[in-house]
Amino acid sequence: MAGMTANPDQTASPKRYFVKSYGCQMNAYDGERMGELLGSSGMEAAGSVDEADLVLLNTCHIRERAVDKVYSEIGRMRREDGSSPMLAVAGCVAQAEGAEIGRRAREVDIVVGPQAYHRLPELIARAAKGERVIDTDMPLESKFDVLPKRQRQGPSAFLTVQEGCDKFCTYCVVPYTRGAEVSRPWAAVMDEARALIDAGAKEITLLGQNVNAWTGTDETGREQGLDGLIRALDRLDGLARIRYTTSHPMDMTEGLIRAHGDVEKLMPFLHLPVQSGSERILRAMNRSHDRDTYVRIIERARAVRPDIAVSGDFIVGFPGETDRDFEDSLQIIRDVDYAMAFSFKYSPRPGTPAATMGDQIADEVMTERLRLLQELLNVQQHRFNQTTLGRRIPILLERPGKKPGQKIGKSPWLQSVVVDTDLPVGALVEVDITSAGPNSLGATLAMEEAA
Ligand code: 5AD
Ligand code: SF4
Repeated sequence: MAGMTANPDQTASPKRYFVKSYGCQMNAYDGERMGELLGSSGMEAAGSVDEADLVLLNTCHIRERAVDKVYSEIGRMRREDGSSPMLAVAGCVAQAEGAEIGRRAREVDIVVGPQAYHRLPELIARAAKGERVIDTDMPLESKFDVLPKRQRQGPSAFLTVQEGCDKFCTYCVVPYTRGAEVSRPWAAVMDEARALIDAGAKEITLLGQNVNAWTGTDETGREQGLDGLIRALDRLDGLARIRYTTSHPMDMTEGLIRAHGDVEKLMPFLHLPVQSGSERILRAMNRSHDRDTYVRIIERARAVRPDIAVSGDFIVGFPGETDRDFEDSLQIIRDVDYAMAFSFKYSPRPGTPAATMGDQIADEVMTERLRLLQELLNVQQHRFNQTTLGRRIPILLERPGKKPGQKIGKSPWLQSVVVDTDLPVGALVEVDITSAGPNSLGATLAMEEAA
């Protein structure tokens, strides 16, 4: 932990905080936990950035001009009267940029990395005395041991069980910003799951950069993998649904695949990124698996759970990607047939091996490839959505819809469903699917609360 130069703007302890999170679900989870921490240290949540005297930008570094976006966001914090709130930059940009942020943006009072945010109250106290503080340590103590117990919760909650990555795909910053793979202990995860359920969660999504690399020791001293943890969560009363994300193909164990066949609460959904369908590009990406290994895992999952929805991530325009390589990506998409997927233009991340590889692909080429790939994925997603038309399925109502008398919920296959109902958020209901668009389904209530 290091101090920087004094910031004359800051002299008072902040009372109202606002957390703005960008990026992945783990960042959303970190944002929630930072909010809970600030709440438990006596601050109140502000309704907007303008009402806050502490703004926390919880940043993401995975793709595209993330750093530029953070600096322009910082610039926007200055208010009409010339004042600005206490400003903290957290998340992966904070980790990657460190002290550089304080040098480029004088408005920033605190820079705090993803493994150090449990120290926020102390950092805020120092900033309130006019110090600029930076903490991008990856301390031995775990933030999870210090953070307060989970509080009020919507029906669907995130729970980080694993962090970091040892895989070092050549395009990816995660191993640098989040550090090495670490699994949270069994008891800590089970305790947090119980607290979430007590606080109202009906669904828990286990999070990790390589969530299926999670390992731990259960109460009886037995070594367990993610499937063991899922089986234990399955036995918790009050929990209706379990999900996990994101998985790496090489950590997709037979036990975890089998859990999809026989754990009732485990939802039929598998997000398994492959990034490219080209053997050559997979090698250049250091993905440590080939195309066929990936396809066989999907086939295995479908054998134990025929209705499983498969989702993926794709990168177009990795350095050296030829038309032929790109065609291989389209082909694996045709072969796997995805229910949904995320796709991105390759973005060189400073410090990663791919950023300095020769044959970087022109932006126009990436744009066109992304368009073609997304066109195919959209057709598949729409087709998948249409397979639910006319069916009766259970939906977890998660939030109010746009119109009165509507709620938005999720199907077991993670589709958004607009349901005509006055039943409360948190209800698990049977519905009849009446329409299926490219991005969402429409439904009417079939029966009252199912569980
Ligand atoms: N450029 C583009 N996409 C990337 N991803 C990770 N790093 C990069 C990068 N440098 C994508 C991958 C990953 C998802 C979370 O983000 O598809 O699975
Ligand atoms: Fe990044 Fe690869 Fe690790 Fe995923 S597996 S976080 S893409 S390095």
